[in-house]
Amino acid sequence: MSAMPSPVLSQPHAYDRISVAPIAGALGAEISGVDISRPIDDATFSEIRRAWLENLVIFFRGQTLDDDALIAFGRRFAPLFRHPNLLTEGRYPDIVRIRRMPGDTQIVGEDWHADTTCMAEPPCGAVLYGAEVPPYGGDTLFANGYRAYEALSEGMKAMLSRMTAVHSDITVAGPQAARNRHRTNKVREDSQWRETVSEHPVVRTHPETGRKTLFVNKSYTQRFSGMTDEESAPLLGFLLQHAARPEFTCRFRWETGSVAVWDNRCTLHIAANDVWKFQRLMHRVQMCGDRPV
Ligand code: SIN
Repeated sequence: MSAMPSPVLSQPHAYDRISVAPIAGALGAEISGVDISRPIDDATFSEIRRAWLENLVIFFRGQTLDDDALIAFGRRFAPLFRHPNLLTEGRYPDIVRIRRMPGDTQIVGEDWHADTTCMAEPPCGAVLYGAEVPPYGGDTLFANGYRAYEALSEGMKAMLSRMTAVHSDITVAGPQAARNRHRTNKVREDSQWRETVSEHPVVRTHPETGRKTLFVNKSYTQRFSGMTDEESAPLLGFLLQHAARPEFTCRFRWETGSVAVWDNRCTLHIAANDVWKFQRLMHRVQMCGDRPV
């Protein structure tokens, strides 16, 4: 039996400039009292950043973010990260349009994942804006990596603390992944595409909070370093299933004008592939992160 997780959101902090309302026991909070499409003063932004670090994913409702406003808001967190595989449209190469059309049977992000962990320095986070949201379906779920780590036994924690894992984009991009056939969102499948591979600790320490978090995900983590895929599968499978236990998650129901900002260093997320007959359009920027340690 695994150890009980310790509470994550310790003492509630006071916020003077925004309101912060948790949406689940594990992670996630809705922020109100700020229009993020306009320039945000430093004191207000520092509360938004604190709410992000404390709640791991924050949400805003009723926002109107054009491309310039989305870019400006993302840049408040960190310089923007340019996605190596997802094809972008138009004048804004930093913005990925996550588009789902009726008839698509596959979508971007339909497995539990942290973004782009094939990179040596994966993004620290992302801002996702709901531009066209279906009347129902298409929720996004998030999972708290701190809680997943803290719930493990001391023996498992000790073993994982000595392990690293190989992260690759081999199953999510490139011609061999064959991702483009069943979905509108296209990734690179050209012959110039090359696999990106990085090794990361299985347990990383968050560079800002100092907390330990489980750092494996289904889309990118192939195996543990020094082991075969087959040798890795039982433990990796356990960790992936454990990380998405319902009590570590929250579920966000989108409205047009909703915004989610997640901390990619200590969360996983998944897009529910249940939009069926509707279309869904999200605009996303990612922010640069550092090398996991
Ligand atoms: C993603 O994985 O970044 C996309 C999430 C979503 O479309 O809900």
